[in-house]
Amino acid sequence: MNSPSISTLDLPAVSFFGRTLAEYRQFFRLEPDSLRDRAVLDVAAGPSSFTAEASRLGARAVASDPLYGCTPDALAAHVQMDYARMFAQMRAKPHLLRFYSFASIDAAEADRRAAAARFLADYADYFVHGRYVGAALPHLPFADRAFGLVLCAHLLFLYAGRFDFDWHAAACRELVRVSAEEVRIHPLCGLDGQPWPGLDRLRANLAAGGIDSEIMAVDYEFFIGTGTTLRLKRMLS
Ligand SMILES: C[S@@+](CC[C@H](N)C(=O)[O-])C[C@H]1O[C@@H](n2cnc3c(N)ncnc32)[C@H](O)[C@@H]1O
Repeated sequence: MNSPSISTLDLPAVSFFGRTLAEYRQFFRLEPDSLRDRAVLDVAAGPSSFTAEASRLGARAVASDPLYGCTPDALAAHVQMDYARMFAQMRAKPHLLRFYSFASIDAAEADRRAAAARFLADYADYFVHGRYVGAALPHLPFADRAFGLVLCAHLLFLYAGRFDFDWHAAACRELVRVSAEEVRIHPLCGLDGQPWPGLDRLRANLAAGGIDSEIMAVDYEFFIGTGTTLRLKRMLS
């Protein structure tokens, strides 16, 4: 059995863990008025409150996650378990954190628990209206160019040990397929805070398939190494 490492977060599975719209704004570098009247898709959304909050701001927002379709009680149980595990890891390894976007682990925990509570209430009301859609990358059940902006946070690159290079390339192509304007993916590092080693090869592979990529610096860091976001767009033909 592997012994626990202090240089990486040890998580047995992809966590059902989520953040607020305010945190999304920072790490995706979203302009204040960029959501109103826009069709926006949050992929691997987990218990993030981004979609609930963006809907209130006038976005036509949809979220997808493999666990959507479970009952609200079952999702609340996932939140309970995964938040306990995640915050135990953070408290055991504070050297993997930067106290810049949040002043303390307690502040981050309060914010993310508020996100999950807001998500659970919205999911109970709006799942039946199609705001929350069960789906797993690299396949999304949406038409080509269905959304102006497509976001995906804290799945690609972060859980690289669970998904190989081909999965990442297929996931990026699928995110671009359902976007009419652009895709943003955050962060570009693994659970050890190190840059994902396949990024240059991935960008070359996407370029060969007609997809432009740009690495954007963002004014955000909580987990080390999370100061960048990848933007993808179809090349003009
Ligand atoms: C750490 S959460 C991120 C939640 C949110 N995007 C955020 O940044 O706050 C990762 C999510 O990815 C979901 N997930 C796991 N495998 C996936 C897959 N193949 N495709 C899409 N989502 C997946 C998990 O269910 C989980 O909710």
